[in-house]
Amino acid sequence: MATALFYASSTGNSEDIADKIANELGEIDVFDLSQTDISKINEYDKVILGGSTWGEGELNDDWDEAWDSFKTINLLDKTLALFGLGDQDGYPDDFCNALGIIYEHVSTSGAKIVGFTSTDGYEFDESKAEIDGKFVGLVIDEDNQDDLTDQRISSWVENIKADIL
Ligand SMILES: Cc1cc2nc3c(=O)[nH]c(=O)nc-3n(C[C@H](O)[C@H](O)[C@H](O)COP(=O)(O)O)c2cc1C
Repeated sequence: MATALFYASSTGNSEDIADKIANELGEIDVFDLSQTDISKINEYDKVILGGSTWGEGELNDDWDEAWDSFKTINLLDKTLALFGLGDQDGYPDDFCNALGIIYEHVSTSGAKIVGFTSTDGYEFDESKAEIDGKFVGLVIDEDNQDDLTDQRISSWVENIKADIL
């Protein structure tokens, strides 16, 4: 069964990151949640989920709209990897919280979650995406550290490849 990536993006940054991840991984299916019903996840065993944080530490609009349906999806036995975008300078108390909110749900779903990353190189005070000193997925900051993005994506993709393809 193929791998799919589902993302939501308010200003296009998460879309760019989704495309880069897909390019690095090769043949995967990519879906924008503003145009795809989240129940499409049911067709895949291996799934990447991503998006940005908005408001003050909240899911972006398209994730928020999909949220109730998402919670009804059976994720048992699926392999998941997560990525999130945020702004550590502008929102140091809620940095990439949406990634943490998604993780909070999927971590109780019976899914295998891969792709935790180091918090080294980021400066923030609080993040729901940090658990036991690690980020629960790939964290990208296009507002302050876009020069590090490509390298972060490459090493993350290398780490998850064996599990997610
Ligand atoms: C009004 C507004 C609120 C935001 N709130 C947060 C936040 O609470 N935490 C965070 O880490 N980033 C926050 N951000 C930063 C975005 O997540 C970041 O710019 C991201 O790259 C946008 O990605 P997108 O274009 O895919 O939506 C906010 C940005 C704006 C403009």
